[in-house]
Amino acid sequence: MKIYVDTADIEEIKTAFAWGIVDGVTTNPSLIKKAVKKYKKGLKEYIKEILKIAGKTPVSLEIISVKEKEMYEQAVTLYEMFSTKENNIVIKIPINIAEDKEDTTHYDALKVINKLAKKKIPVNCTLIMTPEQSLLAAKAGASYVSPFAGRIDDDLRKRAGREFEKTDYHEADGIMIEDVLVHDKGIVSGVDLVEQTQHMLRTYKYNTQVIAASVRNARQVRELALIGADIATIPFSVLNEMIHHHKTFEGLKAFTNDIVPEYEKLFE
Ligand code: G3P
Repeated sequence: MKIYVDTADIEEIKTAFAWGIVDGVTTNPSLIKKAVKKYKKGLKEYIKEILKIAGKTPVSLEIISVKEKEMYEQAVTLYEMFSTKENNIVIKIPINIAEDKEDTTHYDALKVINKLAKKKIPVNCTLIMTPEQSLLAAKAGASYVSPFAGRIDDDLRKRAGREFEKTDYHEADGIMIEDVLVHDKGIVSGVDLVEQTQHMLRTYKYNTQVIAASVRNARQVRELALIGADIATIPFSVLNEMIHHHKTFEGLKAFTNDIVPEYEKLFE
């Protein structure tokens, strides 16, 4: 499974790349907002630095407009502003356009994706909550789709009336309430959403890669790897959680306590 790092924090990106485990970066306006406090240079320079650290690996940057024409223009602007010789910029487009002042939801994102695909601008279609949204995005020409596993888990836990922290583990095979499986139109968990999405796209041999997004804990990453997810985009805190185990920690302490002086001398 490919691992992307889901952050706009340059220090986290640098560290994760230095570990040699990262195949790409994903950002969104909320992640940029979090990172904004840390950067000293202008945002443009900051993003250029991220792209440089990422080298040949793809970096997703999201457009901010909710109007079709502007969405397309912003996508082209971002693509041109940040294109590098490595050609690693990917434009993130939400599957549908948020409600406007008249409370109307627009469904023209597919048109934008299609126009961009024709211009060979790679798109990561984001905020995916159902496999059928992915099917349409793939048909329109998206290079990636990002099903939001964690947010589906949040929704199902709410429906089940559970108290939870967002980072809590949620059963991949779903929650049973009095012998009834809690589901959202047949989706029983975030991992299930990713699995069904990928199955659908593979059945019809789309080249679109599935990025499991909104990943919240290490066990969820394991389950994504077990179902054969193409890519998981993982927050830095979850990467740390994947490394940590209390018995590893305890074992290392014991080894350190047992070091005899002769052994230490070998390193002088
Ligand atoms: O990749 C999408 C991700 O950044 C959203 O995650 O935890 O806010 O649902 P989250």
